[in-house]
Amino acid sequence: MTKELITFDKKNKIFHLHNDQISYLLAVEDGGTLCHLYFGKKVNNYHGELRYPRVDRGFSGNLPGSLDRTFSRDSLPKEYSTAGEMDYHTPAAVVRQKDGSNTLFLTYKDYKIEDGKPDLEGLPHSWVENKDGAETLIVTLEDQKTKLNFELIYTIYRDRPVIVRSVKVKNAGNETVNIEKVASMQIDFVDRDFDSITLPGAHAHERRVDRNHINQGIHVFASHRGTSSHQMNPFLALVDPDTNEFNGDAYGLAFVYSGNHKFEVEKDQFAQTHVNVGINDFNFNWKLPAGNEFQTPEVLMVYSDQGLNKMSQAFHSIIHDRIMRSKYKDQVRPIVVNNWEATYFDFDEEKLKPIVDKAKELGIEMFVLDDGWFGHRDDDNSSLGDWQVYEKKFPQGLDHFADYVHGQGLKFGLWFEPEMISIDSNLYQKHPDYLMHVPGRKPSPSRNQYLLDLGRKEVRDNIFNQMEKILDSGKIDYIKWDMNRHLSDIYQVDLPADQQGEVYHRYVLGLYDLLEKIVDRYPDLLIEGCSGGGGRFDAGMAYYNSQIWASDDSDAIDRLTIQYGTSLVYPQSMMTSHVSVSPNEQNGRITPFKTRGIVAMWGDLGYELDLTKLSESDQKAVAEQVAEYKKIRAVTQYGTFYRLKNAQEGNQCAWETVSPDKNEVVLSTVKVMASAQPYFTKTKLVGLDTNKQYEDQASHQVYGGDELMNLGIYDPVEHGDFMAYRYYFKAIN
Ligand code: GLA
Repeated sequence: MTKELITFDKKNKIFHLHNDQISYLLAVEDGGTLCHLYFGKKVNNYHGELRYPRVDRGFSGNLPGSLDRTFSRDSLPKEYSTAGEMDYHTPAAVVRQKDGSNTLFLTYKDYKIEDGKPDLEGLPHSWVENKDGAETLIVTLEDQKTKLNFELIYTIYRDRPVIVRSVKVKNAGNETVNIEKVASMQIDFVDRDFDSITLPGAHAHERRVDRNHINQGIHVFASHRGTSSHQMNPFLALVDPDTNEFNGDAYGLAFVYSGNHKFEVEKDQFAQTHVNVGINDFNFNWKLPAGNEFQTPEVLMVYSDQGLNKMSQAFHSIIHDRIMRSKYKDQVRPIVVNNWEATYFDFDEEKLKPIVDKAKELGIEMFVLDDGWFGHRDDDNSSLGDWQVYEKKFPQGLDHFADYVHGQGLKFGLWFEPEMISIDSNLYQKHPDYLMHVPGRKPSPSRNQYLLDLGRKEVRDNIFNQMEKILDSGKIDYIKWDMNRHLSDIYQVDLPADQQGEVYHRYVLGLYDLLEKIVDRYPDLLIEGCSGGGGRFDAGMAYYNSQIWASDDSDAIDRLTIQYGTSLVYPQSMMTSHVSVSPNEQNGRITPFKTRGIVAMWGDLGYELDLTKLSESDQKAVAEQVAEYKKIRAVTQYGTFYRLKNAQEGNQCAWETVSPDKNEVVLSTVKVMASAQPYFTKTKLVGLDTNKQYEDQASHQVYGGDELMNLGIYDPVEHGDFMAYRYYFKAIN
């Protein structure tokens, strides 16, 4: 018999979700109130005491009909707050009813404990390999008047410090209601003084680590751009003020969703911290007729008692092992050359062939044909929506070129932007209404392109059928799925007025549906996500895309910050990272070729430049980098990842990956600015076996694991800015 993961103490009405690492405790209190007791390090046995104290709090009212002034839903830490139940916290859910009221009063109804984890239909979700791997608790809260049922769904995995939460709203009443807000989870902490860590950014400047102290008030980290966005990644960590990479408590929350999101952190009058995570309620209004239900996306909740690295490792592991599905997720990722920064739109088959030839010579494994191969696209003003090959550039067809690439022993990848339409396109001529717009208003362009309304099935079918014609050739090994603008002009022409608040979410559901069809039909396709770089880099996308282009900024020094932030949540194998030319096309910075290689090897290595234009010495460097990367990539892509030094906080960046058996270690360090009289610095390795001897594969010097961890290695002192170093150690017997 395997150990159960969820127990229910019937007498005290306490649920305990636990494994060897964590405990999550909730209890049914007075008035059927579902209250939060604890989330953190494992406790063996909760005796039902150590409860939230009862005191009379002024201006925090009490249960209807009760004379007990010491019990208030306004102060008690709860699992789910709604509008109007004498709880002044930012509600997790708001539902407008037929009589115009939005008051709900949720009370405990019943519970179910199931083996495994239910799938979320139409939404990306974490899964279990077999039912023994997890248990799920479903607690139903009911509003007596409307008969709305809120099922709070909690899954605990057997071997991870993770709780996965979502909510299903069921309308068991007789009247239609409108959901104006529905968070996927809420958690309330008592007695915690937190810092928040978020990943804000911009196009070409994604996921910078931002840490702030949470003071009294409501703090919102959100996107309402229709996608998870460059501007605010759907992630939040709450950490103790002294938590660092290796020590201290960290609670990480990652939303498995690619559309509008909202993370609300409210530090209340009693310095308690109330948190909601869910779909952004901006322009959200979901009509729920009697008998219908609404399932929210899910949230991954990670607890770490050993700082941010351990939190990140838990995220990496669940996203890689239990959200990704692609068969590539465990294969070493191919080294790519992409023609975007090499040629932009100015190419044809004859111009590309020498790049392919050179790629073969240098050991590169895949050629990716980027934007500009379809319609009559010579710049970014036309042809989106016309997924037929541009004959001027490929007079003998795309298959002919794909055969050439394959003939050179490389795989062939192709760029698509399936969610978009250009006015200058055949698709627009035929179906102008496919373009998302508000009738009677002119829609706004962005990069001179517009959104296809993926909420509509006929639009998705049209795009799928076009893609199918290309992909059915069987000559495409990889696609890069791009999205180069955000949503605007929010309206779905075939929906009635009272459902226009559903459009943002329907768009995302439509996108997931289209992706699912592609994944299902072409299981051998490696799909890389992209949205003007890393504008849709989220755990939801990991369900369909096993890798994502991290940023349109390929400068090695800017990438240090971008990749550092990305690594807080997302595994290395999910992040693509390319060497491009110097001076860099985005910021003009000049960096050594070696540095660009070392930084790009943080993720899945590729080249984003014209290989034929490189100097001989740079070509030699590419061949060496490629050969070296082939030796280390199993460790760098899939090993346990550690952040050691953050360039955002100092002059150095350092990161390390260790193979599961601790026999192979790759350490990379970058010194940003040089100085005439530098202080000596050391980098101490972590996560090694203290009883093993490790040989540096370059110098053949042998060190004990304890030496490398305790004494550390001296960082080289060299002239020049932006110098990078990589060390590859292997254990010897
Ligand atoms: C986006 C991508 C780039 C490239 C261009 C093509 O910006 O991030 O890598 O594919 O689109 O238009």
